[in-house]
Amino acid sequence: MLSRKAEDYLEAILNIAEKKGYTRVKDIAFALSVKPSSVVEMVRRLSDMALIEYRKYDGMTLTPKGRDIAIVVKERHDTISAFLEIIKVPEEIANKDACIIEHELEPETIEQLKNFVHFVKSAPDYPQWLEHFETFCKAREHPREESGEK
Ligand code: FE2
Repeated sequence: MLSRKAEDYLEAILNIAEKKGYTRVKDIAFALSVKPSSVVEMVRRLSDMALIEYRKYDGMTLTPKGRDIAIVVKERHDTISAFLEIIKVPEEIANKDACIIEHELEPETIEQLKNFVHFVKSAPDYPQWLEHFETFCKAREHPREESGEK
């Protein structure tokens, strides 16, 4: 089992590499708001575990094994933040909290969250129950049934 911190690093390395094509120590330090010296230490550990390959001047790349783990963590992150946004958590907070929750949930929970997100996002129209939920959040009561329809 990897530590949460190690998972966060792999996720950050993947995110940065997707944007820039490579990842340097200072990019990770910036992304995770940590000191470059802490990054160097963790990078050494990840490299010892054969999860990344580190070259002092070229930065680092994920090994296939490191990439697999990073993708799983990132998928969990995307699922959780999408779910939180569906229930109207602001995007920035959803992203921040997804990074906390992503390490803790059982695969069954993630799977159901994923199904739920897919269910909502693939709906042909904006779901009416979700509109009701929005009204409920503001008014603290269920919207009244509109009479006369059908
Ligand atoms: Fe995350």
